[in-house]
Amino acid sequence: MSTQLAIETRGLVKVFGEKRAVDGVDLAVPAGMVYGVLGPNGAGKTTTVKMLATLLRPDGGEARVFGKDVRTHADAVRRRVSLTGQYASVDEDLTGTENLVLLARLLGYTPAAARKRSEAMLDAFGLTDAAARQVKNYSGGMRRRIDIAASILNTPDLLFLDEPTTGLDPRSRNQVWDIVRTVVAHGTTVLLTTQYLDEADQLAARIAVIDQGRVIAEGTKGELKASVGPGTVHLRLRDAGQRPDAQRVLARVLGTEVQPESDPVALTARVSGHGSERGAAEEAARALSELAGAGITVDNFSLGQPSLDEVFLALTDRTSTATATTTTTSDAKGTAAA
Ligand SMILES: Nc1ncnc2c1ncn2[C@@H]1O[C@H](COP(=O)(O)OP(=O)(O)OP(=O)(O)O)[C@@H](O)[C@H]1O
Ligand SMILES: [Mg+2]
Repeated sequence: MSTQLAIETRGLVKVFGEKRAVDGVDLAVPAGMVYGVLGPNGAGKTTTVKMLATLLRPDGGEARVFGKDVRTHADAVRRRVSLTGQYASVDEDLTGTENLVLLARLLGYTPAAARKRSEAMLDAFGLTDAAARQVKNYSGGMRRRIDIAASILNTPDLLFLDEPTTGLDPRSRNQVWDIVRTVVAHGTTVLLTTQYLDEADQLAARIAVIDQGRVIAEGTKGELKASVGPGTVHLRLRDAGQRPDAQRVLARVLGTEVQPESDPVALTARVSGHGSERGAAEEAARALSELAGAGITVDNFSLGQPSLDEVFLALTDRTSTATATTTTTSDAKGTAAA
């Protein structure tokens, strides 16, 4: 196995009773980026992270972190990684400052250096005003920020962030996102698990989509999007009453399924364009002119790459048959072979 990678797994397995929570996961995470592991509830994200962080022993396969086997070199792995998640290390009864100073002391800082580091972190995470309050009185967003601050006191080479923004409001999510970007800019590799496609889209350079303990697709965002086709048209009509007609016209011209959106004047459709962006643009233009020809007024129109939401739906649809799983994985995997 290569040692250039922050994480490399082959056929990683974890079984709980009858349940194969992680069922043969292959990952190759290059150092220095945010790598997204995207999957729904119960997909096996936390179980995978716990094995990589040496908190759970794999039942099968191999996993290496910076070239070190998580089973046989757990100590070496632990020295280089840090983890935040449901199992974060902050103490609810201590204040923000007390928590960070204590952790810094445990990491070997002198009292003065621990205090200085703690102040700098609280400042960087926008927690200076809350520094003297017990963590149990923090809001969800503040709690998440102190968790991350605690986990990067000693800048780790690899940081696991297990659903760092689940349950946060949009403003707090943005703050956490900024922190993640800063951490990566300082050279830490981040493995981020999330159920949110937009989060993976915002932060991750590469993404593994996992479902039912397996990687069903892997690649850059661009590769994943390209794997479902070159484009998607979104359009808004002047008159909601014309939507059924518009839907028929689009389905005929584009030859794909047309999705009505929750907004009663909006429609979305995949454009195949025979696989090319130019073809997609031509098809979209033809669709527009046919809509005009049918007397349908379009107020707003866009042709863009499919969203990760669309990618995810397409992938999880395809995996309902076992043969499709193989095709999808190899299609999207592109250059990821280690
Ligand atoms: N200690 C355990 N004992 C038994 N089953 C478990 C245990 N931990 C996880 N599982 C099961 O393994 C599967 C994967 O769980 P995991 O927590 O890894 O999913 P996840 O992707 O992190 O989900 P979520 O998004 O809800 O956090 C689930 O079906 C879960 O119920
Ligand atoms: Mg989880």
